[in-house]
Amino acid sequence: MLAGKKVLVGITGGIAAYKTAEVVSRLRKLHAEVHVAMTKSATEFITPLTLRSLSANPVYVDLFDEPKLWNVEHIALAEHVDAVIVAPATANFLAKIAIGLADDFLSTVLLATRAPIFVAPAMNQAMYLHPATQNNLTCLRERGVKIIGPGTGFQACGTDGIGRMTEALEIVETLAQFLSSRKLLKGKKALVTAGGTQEPLDPVRYLGNRSSGRMGYAIAQALQEAGAETTLISAPTDLATPSGVNRVSVHTALEMFEAVLSRFPEVDVVIKAAAVADFRPAVQAEQKIKKNGSNRVLELVPNPDILAELGRRKTSQVLVGFAAETENLLANAEDKMRRKNVNLLVANDVTKQGAGFGSLTNIVSFLFPDGRKIDFPQMSKHEVAQHLIREIANLLGVESKE
Ligand code: PMT
Repeated sequence: MLAGKKVLVGITGGIAAYKTAEVVSRLRKLHAEVHVAMTKSATEFITPLTLRSLSANPVYVDLFDEPKLWNVEHIALAEHVDAVIVAPATANFLAKIAIGLADDFLSTVLLATRAPIFVAPAMNQAMYLHPATQNNLTCLRERGVKIIGPGTGFQACGTDGIGRMTEALEIVETLAQFLSSRKLLKGKKALVTAGGTQEPLDPVRYLGNRSSGRMGYAIAQALQEAGAETTLISAPTDLATPSGVNRVSVHTALEMFEAVLSRFPEVDVVIKAAAVADFRPAVQAEQKIKKNGSNRVLELVPNPDILAELGRRKTSQVLVGFAAETENLLANAEDKMRRKNVNLLVANDVTKQGAGFGSLTNIVSFLFPDGRKIDFPQMSKHEVAQHLIREIANLLGVESKE
């Protein structure tokens, strides 16, 4: 199943390190090429010899060891692998990679690699629930790192609670599923929009909305990881461009309209996750508007509906729209799906806790013109993006290439 796939397994210093031997063994049984890098502390829990025997490859511990395979090993390994899994990932190690420290072999590879990174946290429940650890996990998640677990149950320190490393079988299944669906969209060209457009009133003010761009950026990353040549048309956000994605920055709905429409004929799929302003100020003042004590009336003019225009022009493209609703979610979403002629509509009730604007998670339903509907529970925006990739592949008539 994983023949030809190269996986780096990183092990850090926690008691769950002994379980990682099974992760390595299972990956080998699926025919993956496995490399192992351990922190010094990890070698206190399990020997490099065990991992070398199971992986059938040299094990990396020290940055300054004699090279085993390549000249600049940490860089060569970083570029060589298709995915990295760190299991167990201690609280200390999560903190290190969250701030980008590179003071040993494993953390240096993580900073240098552009391969997808998975971490399986394992620690005492109090350490896991500490705001510092939670902040580090949020930061990593936002950067696209995939967090597996942790589970709940008996812990080596004698307590019961959250912080157990996910079992080896589940870790390997997650990796295998990810790696085998990676190239689902190879050869396809994708366009995603993200963020909230800004419609200027004067040189210092604009009309905007609460979109953080997270949903669209997660989709862009998932498309790129699925092998699609991905362009992200982004309204202003604080987010880093996912590795390998071509980003085009815009501010206004009109700029987004232009950027999307000019690329539309060449792409196979468009996903419109951006929150586009329906109106813009009729006049943009050249100088900062001064207050004069009296009321001010703003005249707004309609912006073009980009998605509806794509729906009119589409030939073979798969078109995915979003609907951000505050009431009558399904009825409004179905209406948008038909009016805008999309192949798939992602409906989210943005008044729900953990859904919509700004949050790390979303609660969505996928609606299809043939009447099918799939409801999802609350999940991370990256997980929503993964589900979207599978549906887009179906709509494009793509079979898994693995
Ligand atoms: O960015 P995040 O903080 O992660 O938040 C995610 C999100 C809530 C922005 C996202 O999940 C979402 O719902 N995006 C669509 C927001 C929106 O503008 O919805 P709408 O119902 O107003 O528009 C319907 C569809 O038409 C959308 O695909 C929109 O991109 C598109 N549209 C709208 C107006 C317009 N002038 N042109 C458009 O193309």
